Amino acid sequence: MSGHASFEPTNKIVKWFEDRLPVLGLAHASFVAFPTPRNLNYWWTFGGILFFFLLVQIITGIILAMHYVPHEALAFDSTEHILRDVNYGWLLRYLHSNGASMFFLAVYIHIFRGLYYGSFKGPREILWIIGVVIYVLMMAAGFLGYVLPWGQMSFWAATVITNLFSAFPIVGEPIVQWLWGGFSVGQPTLNRFFSFHYLVPLLLYVFVILHVWALHVVGNNNPTGVSVKKDQDTLPFHPYYTIKDSYAIVAFLLIYFWFVFFNPNQLGHPDNYIPADALVTPPHIVPEWYFLPFYAILRAVPDKLGGVLLMFGALAVLAVLPWLDRSKARSLTYRPLMKGFFWIFAVDAVLLGWLGSQPAEGIFVTLSRLATAYYFAHFLIILPLVSKFEVPRPRPASIMDAVLEKSGDADEAKS
Ligand code: HEM
Repeated sequence: MSGHASFEPTNKIVKWFEDRLPVLGLAHASFVAFPTPRNLNYWWTFGGILFFFLLVQIITGIILAMHYVPHEALAFDSTEHILRDVNYGWLLRYLHSNGASMFFLAVYIHIFRGLYYGSFKGPREILWIIGVVIYVLMMAAGFLGYVLPWGQMSFWAATVITNLFSAFPIVGEPIVQWLWGGFSVGQPTLNRFFSFHYLVPLLLYVFVILHVWALHVVGNNNPTGVSVKKDQDTLPFHPYYTIKDSYAIVAFLLIYFWFVFFNPNQLGHPDNYIPADALVTPPHIVPEWYFLPFYAILRAVPDKLGGVLLMFGALAVLAVLPWLDRSKARSLTYRPLMKGFFWIFAVDAVLLGWLGSQPAEGIFVTLSRLATAYYFAHFLIILPLVSKFEVPRPRPASIMDAVLEKSGDADEAKS
């Protein structure tokens, strides 16, 4: 879809350079002339918002790393030192810790947008799968980063999560010791987690480039799900969507800044302001909010290995989604029955999140089991069956028709 044709430099030096390495032409084709469906709504601005937050995390992270010390005797104090002594250190740290939450909030909206409008369906399967890889890398980065302040939650989260691997027979124990670099979470663990916390976002960056590349090969989906006719249905990305994305980023910043400046510790756990202590286990070990649905799935199963497999299965099922939904219609706008199930699934996901924050006992365990069963039933039973039998409502012939029909100009739409 993207060609370089429309970029013709007038400046001689630029032209000389372009003839040898056409990067400006590539950037122009990708971010200026890129034909974008004219009916994209605000749910399509979250890719841009995510890109913005990736940059925020990398920039604030690099500066934090200049002051942070990955040593078990100094890590906690160096984090306090950043908050109290480093110029604008409090700002850097709160931008970074709340930035992680905003990044996940945005990615969840981005994923649910994809689920609703069928953006995972052909020809966007690879784009979607790269997205799932990005999501897994984001989780790895979030987990590794949370360990670094070396508070009680950091230490015990690291202990619980690394210990999960011990559930695998034979190889389990050696893997855990290899992850720890010893026989318990300690100095070697902290050091390697710091190293990987720096590395993973750079990998993330590589996958984001692949993601956007794949997007530019197949083009955007749109709210109707109908394939675009290039000339009548699209607009150049700039200025139409650069403006819309910028507006959305600023609106999203308001939520971000509300946390950073008014409630910077709202999303964290108070126990993480207690230095790590291997001899005192906190009463409830709770991960960050964005891991809670998976934590609920993990604890829903009485068997440790079963829980671990189910938790990874909950991610893996997302990767095969393009082959589970066989409906010809992409957008749920034209699939009333599946739309209903989509909203039940959304409620189920939120319920799992809430259950993940509760103690694993009594009614919470029962509810977690039901919600976990529904999570898998949604993807493995409901989606394939409904997509096979539901007859979608008539779809517009083109997105131009859909836009004009909505604005009441139906006659023009038909002509
Ligand atoms: C760092 C994280 C990510 C970044 C920076 C990113 C970036 C983008 C951008 C810029 C777009 C085009 C604009 C838009 O549709 O919003 C996009 C589209 C898309 N992304 Fe992502 N993305 C990320 C994570 C994910 C994840 C985790 C998934 C799914 C698991 C995903 C799936 C998709 C799909 C399917 C599209 C095509 C949407 C359509 O045209 O309907 N992305 N992404």
